[in-house]
Amino acid sequence: MDKGVLSVVSNEQIAERIFRMEVEGELAGRMTRPGQFVHVKCGAGIDPLLRRPISICNVDTDKKRLTMIYRVEGHGTRVLSEYVPGQPLDILGPLGEGFPVEGRQAGEHALLVGGGIGVPPLYYLGKQLKQCGVRITSVIGFGTASQVFLERELAELGDVHVVTIDGTAGVQGLVTDVLTGEYGLGMSDWDVLYSCGPLPMLRALQDKYQPAGKEGYISLEQRMGCGVGACLACVCPVQEKGEGRKYRKICSDGPVFPLGEVRL
Ligand code: FES
Repeated sequence: MDKGVLSVVSNEQIAERIFRMEVEGELAGRMTRPGQFVHVKCGAGIDPLLRRPISICNVDTDKKRLTMIYRVEGHGTRVLSEYVPGQPLDILGPLGEGFPVEGRQAGEHALLVGGGIGVPPLYYLGKQLKQCGVRITSVIGFGTASQVFLERELAELGDVHVVTIDGTAGVQGLVTDVLTGEYGLGMSDWDVLYSCGPLPMLRALQDKYQPAGKEGYISLEQRMGCGVGACLACVCPVQEKGEGRKYRKICSDGPVFPLGEVRL
């Protein structure tokens, strides 16, 4: 974990309340693991006081550029959306445990399942998996057509299926409704699952695939305080009963956990 001041290269709206920001600086070149996150200070003063956790969507290590995609939720992210090129941005990171990529074999098939603002970290992951020769299928879900993003970028990595709750883009429903039925992706059609998104979606995936013994990794979205394991604002219970720690800190033990490790 490190801290640095990076320079904003671009900051543009790409979907309803969704912005893509690119920043440049030495620190960006060290963000090599997908699924980790950065803790961003939105604004120069003490308002807002707390940093905002934002996932790493892409890194160009040669140019030392980091791409973050964030949703405007409140004051902090609204301030962030007003940054302009050339402005300095205070970033802490990379933080947390990311998605494991090492050990994947060429010819394997990875299923990437994302919901809403959980989609961005899957792009950097997908790029690294593709470099390993892994085949990729992405299923990404949103509320409505105006909220859809990263479809084109993910399509450069493999098959992409878009799902919207109101049916205005792609297939109508929830990703979990259509995962097996509509696309015919049976459990034996893929080797490993990677997912990030809202809790009900992750819970449904864990309930479905953990009992079947499938390998998978889920990334939890969580409001955070310190972001470095010190304040206990982000704890979640583990599934395992018995000795040892009964909880995990999402910011430092996660945000990525193997399927079945934490209780959702
Ligand atoms: Fe402080 Fe996780 S946010 S311990």
